[in-house]
Amino acid sequence: MVVLIDVDKVLLELTLEEKIQLLSGKNNWQTHGIGRLGIPSLTTTDGPHGVRGTAFFNGPKGMLTPSATAMGATFDTNLMRKTGAMLAIEARERGYDVLLGPTVCLQRSPLIGRGFEAFAEDPWLSGMMASEYVNGVQAGGVACSIKHFAAHDQSTNSTEDAIVASERALRETHLLPFQLAVKHANPWSFMTSYNKINGTHASENAWLMSKILRQDWGWDGLVMSDWFGTYSTTEAVVAGLDLEMPGPARWRGDILRYAVLSRKLKMSSIDARVRNLLNLVNKLEAHKHRGDNTAQYGDTPAKKDLCRTLASSSIVLLKNKDNLLPLDPTAKQTYGLIGPAVTITAASGGGSGDLRPYYISRPMEAIKEVVGEENVKTAIGCSGGRFLPYLETDIHVPGTNEPGYLLHWYATDPESDPSLKPTVTVTGEQAQMYFGDNIPDGIGARYWLKVSTIYTAPKTTTIQLGLCVVGKAKMYVDGNEVVDLWTSQPPKTISTPMFDRASMEVTADLSVKEGESYEILVFLKNESFEAGAGALNRGGLRLGYTEKFDDEAALAKAINVAKQVDVPIVIAGLNKDYETEATDRQTLALPPQVDRLIKEVIKANPKTVVVSQAGCPITMPWLDQASAVCHAWYGGQETGHGIADVLFGKTNPSGRISVTFPKRLEHSPAFLNFGKSDYEIVYGEGVFVGYRYYEKTLHDPLFYFGYGLSYTNFEYSNPQAPKTVTPTNGDVRFDASVDVTNTGDRDGHEIVQIYVSDLKSSVQRPIKELKGFKKVWIKAGSTETVTVSLDKYALSYWSERQDKWLAEAGAFRIIISKSANPVDEVASLGIKLLESFTWMI
Ligand code: BGC
Repeated sequence: MVVLIDVDKVLLELTLEEKIQLLSGKNNWQTHGIGRLGIPSLTTTDGPHGVRGTAFFNGPKGMLTPSATAMGATFDTNLMRKTGAMLAIEARERGYDVLLGPTVCLQRSPLIGRGFEAFAEDPWLSGMMASEYVNGVQAGGVACSIKHFAAHDQSTNSTEDAIVASERALRETHLLPFQLAVKHANPWSFMTSYNKINGTHASENAWLMSKILRQDWGWDGLVMSDWFGTYSTTEAVVAGLDLEMPGPARWRGDILRYAVLSRKLKMSSIDARVRNLLNLVNKLEAHKHRGDNTAQYGDTPAKKDLCRTLASSSIVLLKNKDNLLPLDPTAKQTYGLIGPAVTITAASGGGSGDLRPYYISRPMEAIKEVVGEENVKTAIGCSGGRFLPYLETDIHVPGTNEPGYLLHWYATDPESDPSLKPTVTVTGEQAQMYFGDNIPDGIGARYWLKVSTIYTAPKTTTIQLGLCVVGKAKMYVDGNEVVDLWTSQPPKTISTPMFDRASMEVTADLSVKEGESYEILVFLKNESFEAGAGALNRGGLRLGYTEKFDDEAALAKAINVAKQVDVPIVIAGLNKDYETEATDRQTLALPPQVDRLIKEVIKANPKTVVVSQAGCPITMPWLDQASAVCHAWYGGQETGHGIADVLFGKTNPSGRISVTFPKRLEHSPAFLNFGKSDYEIVYGEGVFVGYRYYEKTLHDPLFYFGYGLSYTNFEYSNPQAPKTVTPTNGDVRFDASVDVTNTGDRDGHEIVQIYVSDLKSSVQRPIKELKGFKKVWIKAGSTETVTVSLDKYALSYWSERQDKWLAEAGAFRIIISKSANPVDEVASLGIKLLESFTWMI
């Protein structure tokens, strides 16, 4: 039975202290409940690529989808709804109420470290994909907290970012995906961003939260801060920030009580905030049983299928000379699987959007499944990461046969008393153990930790072990100290794991004999005892492991393999060492050894297929020489199958570039004002984000937004759009349509993209902007009429003069195109808006 809270009544019954509790996080992931009034505590969990749960270390395993840029590349809103629905099931299974996602900030610069978490550089694509994602999640009775409101588009120290931008640039680009999600999906919650916008932090920005979100868009949900992103008491409450997360709150509690008692803050302001929290509780309660689908709990075939479809349909075929692809799985030929990502799967970027997947399909096994083990030779070719791969294979928990680690936690220093028993003992499987949360009960702010595992060598060789630590630590092998990050730590020269909080990695070489076992032990002491934001420094470690090799020998072997086989397949690119929350990239280039490997393998065998992986744009200095190139983003738990499906033709590729790949960084819109060189970050490019900029400034990119090939061909004919439109009831609704014929011999998906060009405007506008798209399945030889509905959004810009969206009477063109690249335009139809009109949402 659904029991809703009587909000008005409860507001009268709550004490001030209780109200303040409701507006403050209880702990890292939960809100306070008030038992006597039947108000439950709510549990949040990160998104957006799955449901990570309430712990970075030892959290539950879950479904890991491809990165959001990959999902954006599918242009498939139906898939987004299905993904949302599955994520709701994952959340419901674990008892979570609010999914912290999706992320819809645009990749203003291709360097943004957490750019892989957001769908696209284009606000329309981003907003429409996000809407269906939210609809899917919320139909399952789980709230979305869409984030980060707004303009969180740098990752390094984002709390200090001060964005200066015109209202028009914000409304038309950075705010638009949020606006579309409000219109089409009504997310029950918003999460503010860390940065300032035009002088005021988002979490105390009345213009953003009260004026735009609540007044202009008529939204009535709950606004929470990003984690540790609240910076004031009264200002934040007055401006409209309902909930400070996480808890214990820094800015609420007694300070907030005092603000009310001193009449700095009115009770009505507090009540407005509490009302939003209670309404969220009611929405969750009302929809609770909608999403019950226990048949889909756990790691089910349906989740596997969904992730495989997402992964394969996100892959973008960039080049396919002489139709090298698809490879014929029945052909009698040999394959070389070359590159670090063949076995060390690049399934996800790093940070809060990452999680422990149920499993990972590695490209190596996935391709062997198709062509048979006997036809495959492998070579790693070079080192792929900044840090050694995780030590998660060839190990077991001491005293058991279980893979993983034994963790002995001590509340007092075990070195002071060797007979001291651990306070708490747990086991875990992850080589990266981050204790920003989930420190066991009984362990206080200060702790000591012994982490041990038994490593059994699969062959006689030299291995490398690596250690990074948050705090200080030493590593021992069979009782001998091999790494000392206790006495001193090397200066940091690159960003490091665990939100850039870890030390640099220090490695040790070890000669090992096949079948012999070695005890690896790390003794760690945490150094930071703070609660709140300081908890991010409260300890962690990362253990790395590889068989020792040098890049020269590895490259030589790869070249050899490439020469011996019929088809070399190189899978390489970036991974979560490079693309992660809390730190931006410095360059678009792949690591030099990776570019070199790709170049040399192509040189050794012209039939090389390159599969590049990165969550955001990269440069491809070997592109001209390559015959076939696919971009595979980070593919989630089905990365391997997704790649194999496209390479061997099970899936006809239909992914489209979701973030323009520039030829060089200097050409990108934010090049002159990204990063920390200035105190303020001025959005000098205005509304010209992504392809809008490249097209306007004649900087032909490597790959335009929307670009991607197929194994078949599509021809367009009979484009239609009305010649004139007249507004009725503050809107215009019209269709653009085109007949698309699949002229090849394979069935496949085509993505019809509709851009609009404003031919004469009172303000400077992009040459064209995406305003509609549709993904359609067309059988070989068939023709489908594809109709895309457009509305007032297609013809309007934000008018600073009117403080409203304005559709100006006059001439426009409807451009039907295969990508944002002007050369891909297939039709351009004139249309006239007969009367000007303004509107708000
Ligand atoms: C991130 C958010 C995330 C939150 C909780 C923050 O660091 O910016 O996206 O939801 O942490 O993990």
